[in-house]
Amino acid sequence: MRLRGKSAIVTGAASGIGEQIARAFAAEGARVCVADLERPGAERVAASLGASAIAVRMDVTDEGEVERGVAQAAEQLGGIDILVSNAGLQHVEPIADLAFADWKRILAVHLDGGFLTTRACLRRMIDRRRGGALILMGSVHSKEASVHKGPYVAAKHGLLGLARVLAKEGAPHGVRANLICPGFVLTPLVERQIPQLAKERGISAAAAVKDVMLATTVDGEFTTVADVAEVALFLAAFPTNALTGQSIVVSHGWHMQ
Ligand SMILES: NC(=O)c1ccc[n+]([C@@H]2O[C@H](COP(=O)([O-])OP(=O)(O)OC[C@H]3O[C@@H](n4cnc5c(N)ncnc54)[C@H](O)[C@@H]3O)[C@@H](O)[C@H]2O)c1
Repeated sequence: MRLRGKSAIVTGAASGIGEQIARAFAAEGARVCVADLERPGAERVAASLGASAIAVRMDVTDEGEVERGVAQAAEQLGGIDILVSNAGLQHVEPIADLAFADWKRILAVHLDGGFLTTRACLRRMIDRRRGGALILMGSVHSKEASVHKGPYVAAKHGLLGLARVLAKEGAPHGVRANLICPGFVLTPLVERQIPQLAKERGISAAAAVKDVMLATTVDGEFTTVADVAEVALFLAAFPTNALTGQSIVVSHGWHMQ
């Protein structure tokens, strides 16, 4: 039980990567707050994790909702030891065609959401004087660019900077901050992109996966939600401040650093 006695908030935990991280944390003994824009999904996941898990509806772009949700989680779980700021969205369009509203929407979820959730948890960790772990969900797109993903790539690069500043500012308080950078993981976020990519390139869905998405991995494999959850668990449970300010790429070798 690597997280026995710990309390964690995972945002975007009604689906995909966040859901699996919530499950992995609960299985290792953590009390988990499943936070998501989608209340029914958050409630479904929390209910399946047992009596110590709670669900909170939280739009991570809304300061009031983040403050209220983190306060509720801290009260009901007995403080916050771990945050996984994971909620995210994708938007695929060339920059030349991109509406300003879509640019702002994607930056808001990733960057405003990353800032608001880490600030709310960091303040509590500082006041409580028991340290903590802040984990931000980056992407290979925190390090690499792809066409038609301008706001996503810009936002994920921004999260790398935020994690590094958090590592420096958190250090005096025993708070670690790290970024996880997954490659393609077959979640609803990616499932939506496959037909779009196939149509755009005039190729089959299978070719869009094999020849585009996974073309530069070492083995043609998707990264799995379980792979990403294992990295989150490793970062959450790491016992000292030695591992902070890092970005860990989990991508079947798509990006090597
Ligand atoms: N799937 C991948 O290939 C991949 C790769 C690298 C990084 N990521 C990142 O992992 C994270 C999770 O993505 P996923 O693939 O599991 O996607 P997903 O669509 O399965 O889950 C995303 C979750 O975030 C929630 N969400 C969206 N906007 C929100 C908001 N404003 N406030 C609160 N919750 C909100 C959604 O309701 C959903 O439950 C994202 O940050 C994404 O950018 C995903």
